[in-house]
Amino acid sequence: MTTTLTIDPMTRLEGHGKIHIVLDDKGEVERALFQVPELRGFESFVVGRPAVDMPQIVSRICGVCPTAQHLAATKALDDLFGVTPPPAARAIRELVYHAFMLEDHALHFYFLGGPDILLGAPESATQRNVLGLLRLVGRDDAKKIISMRSRLRELITSVAGKVVHPVFGLPGGVSRRIEPSRRDQIQAVARDSMTFALDAFSLFDTKVLGDERSMERFVYDSDVLETFSMGTVDKSNQVSFYGGVLRVTSPDGSEHARFDPHDYAGHIAEHVEPWTCVTFPYLRDPGWKGFTDGIESGVYRVAPLARLNASTGYSTPRAHQEYERLIETFNGRTPVRQTLAYHWARLIEMIYAAERLEELATSEELYAPEVRNMDLGTPTSGVGCVEAPRGTLIHHYATDSQGVITACNLIVATHSNSAAICLSIERAARRLIHKGVVDDGILNEVEMAFRAYDPCLTCASHSLPGTMPLHVDIVDHRGRVTESLRKL
Ligand code: MG
Ligand code: NI
Repeated sequence: MTTTLTIDPMTRLEGHGKIHIVLDDKGEVERALFQVPELRGFESFVVGRPAVDMPQIVSRICGVCPTAQHLAATKALDDLFGVTPPPAARAIRELVYHAFMLEDHALHFYFLGGPDILLGAPESATQRNVLGLLRLVGRDDAKKIISMRSRLRELITSVAGKVVHPVFGLPGGVSRRIEPSRRDQIQAVARDSMTFALDAFSLFDTKVLGDERSMERFVYDSDVLETFSMGTVDKSNQVSFYGGVLRVTSPDGSEHARFDPHDYAGHIAEHVEPWTCVTFPYLRDPGWKGFTDGIESGVYRVAPLARLNASTGYSTPRAHQEYERLIETFNGRTPVRQTLAYHWARLIEMIYAAERLEELATSEELYAPEVRNMDLGTPTSGVGCVEAPRGTLIHHYATDSQGVITACNLIVATHSNSAAICLSIERAARRLIHKGVVDDGILNEVEMAFRAYDPCLTCASHSLPGTMPLHVDIVDHRGRVTESLRKL
């Protein structure tokens, strides 16, 4: 007889998900499933809407990643109408985007994933949350963290109109320039952002990198996946959040593909399973071989560690220095395969985002007056791509000649990681669960396997399988489940 363990809801992530762990009659793990039961359906219901409304519509996909959705849509409109934004518009978009990346990574480090690595003892369930973490850093530093996040969000609001649903992106540019009189204020935020990023890194450095036991537990002994890695890079193959070309490296570290986001459909296809609303994108070469890793499997990963693996490092000095230190720790070469090293790579990205903010804040072009190219062509189709905090995000729209959407495909960051997340969860469950013995600490370690990826399931649920996966529990007045109906 098999037994199913269910972790529902999964905690400290964006959106709703469930983990089912199926044990055989000896209590060993037979299979683990990571299921996303919520359906968002944006790909379908935007059909018939004017494409120019997309930056506003898609920012409603998610309250956590709206800036990424907004900018991917805005860039898709640039492409759709064949316009190149002036340098000031690009600098303004990048300023907002790097502020967003920094505060979003900080959210994950301090509130969601950080408690796992900084307070990770399996027995400390009541401490293993944001409150435990705030206690660890102390009241004064906790205040500083909250205040810096709010200053970054105020900066986004002042430039992008709104922080949760930005309204500044337009085809060919942005809606408003930044007045030179704001230079000192913006530079001050950028400077303090650097201190903020370095403080976060130094907390991680002391608690994890400087602690042999933590390093063993979270880095050296962490589960390993041999997948392809994908990320956006610039001309020198260094990480870029806002734009460039997509680079894929293979599990042996060699370059597997390098292509313009326009050509994504030639390289990436989406596999669908009937039991979940996420799709499972995979590389057409080598193809979908099921939930398995290795060089023969088209499963690839995105987001901080994959970006690092798909690149040759960072264009800014401090982030690149930490990149080299990370690589040195893992035998001196990429790819780094340890899933929990995602946390480390994310902290390096916080430094990179802060360094880019300083570069942008001190540049002349940020404050230049010309922020829109109005020379719009006749629309047919457009692709927009950015690196969201959680990985590569692709928007692809086709329209009629009036610019009304006729088809829409979104490849959301967490889609690309979803097969790898399934594998990581199953691997952790197999390592930890034996003879049917499970406790809270073990289940949290299983959850740690997905939290390292920082998945956003709110963003990543657009598949319409033939039947709607559904699980209904009927609960009596005492809270007991009297009947469970399943349609998977
Ligand atoms: Mg899709
Ligand atoms: Ni999201």
